[in-house]
Amino acid sequence: MAQASLAREIPEEATEVALQTRIKAGATLEDISEMTPRYREVLVATMSIAADLEIMTLPLDYDAIAFAPTINDRIAVASALQDEMGHAQVMFRMLEDFGFDSYHQVFERDPKNFKSFFLLEFGNLSPIDVGLGHLVGDQAGYITTRDLEENCSFGPYSRSLRKVNFEENFHVKRGEYMIRHYMQQGPEIRKRVQERMDFWFPLGAEWFGATDDVKSRPDQLHYKIRGSSNDQLRQIWLQRLVPFCEQVGLKVPAHFDSEKGIYVLDYQMPILLNLETMKWDFRTVTWPEKLAQWKKGGPLKLPGLSRMQTELWGQDLW
Ligand SMILES: [Fe+2]
Ligand SMILES: [Fe+2]
Repeated sequence: MAQASLAREIPEEATEVALQTRIKAGATLEDISEMTPRYREVLVATMSIAADLEIMTLPLDYDAIAFAPTINDRIAVASALQDEMGHAQVMFRMLEDFGFDSYHQVFERDPKNFKSFFLLEFGNLSPIDVGLGHLVGDQAGYITTRDLEENCSFGPYSRSLRKVNFEENFHVKRGEYMIRHYMQQGPEIRKRVQERMDFWFPLGAEWFGATDDVKSRPDQLHYKIRGSSNDQLRQIWLQRLVPFCEQVGLKVPAHFDSEKGIYVLDYQMPILLNLETMKWDFRTVTWPEKLAQWKKGGPLKLPGLSRMQTELWGQDLW
């Protein structure tokens, strides 16, 4: 979420001050008329990214239906996909109140203008990748939307996320169940899970955006659109994921630092994925280099969105 523009100064006009004071005191906004233009802009940007991420899961998960090894797996993937469609519908419906045309946003907008995240832009999901996608990716998404539900000062949006988060948590649990199961299937499968985790883990770590020393989002935090910074959300993700991995015997490049009392990565962000070998290079690069990789996107991004707009909706999805 930190890929957007650099944080700007919050205007100090009287209406702004009054609004910020109300929000600081714990008030929620129930109507658009209560917003200042700046608040509205920050809120809509946040909601738009969240909505686009839900859409991007459709082309991502769609391929996994074909790879599902059993009828139960197939039903479970299709069910998660239906959840994601519901999440997208809730979010785009809410954006209609801010003047957006849902149909145009989903089906007619140039795929280049969707705000997807790198983690969602690699397709052809094997059953192991489905499990890791839930464990790593839905976990990251859940932490982000849970923060919005708990903290967002726009009441209707916060409340609309209750069901979304209930379902996201279910996806995470399913990921844990699947990976625990695969890790008990002998050395060959364990090795395969480890190889795919090596790919997924850094994608999950960078889901939360640039580190706070480089870019914080004081506008989102001042307005209490969200409650935690990028690094704080990343820390929650590490707190949940790293102990689970240790428990099932998966190695990940992060550990608990007992001096600092927090989980830390064993490498310094940002790092780049080699898109030819699909392997991570753990040498630290600059943020502009990383931003360029995110901007270019993964192989599924544009073809996946174009396909979703032309083939995948409605009957053809199943
Ligand atoms: Fe979702
Ligand atoms: Fe999900």
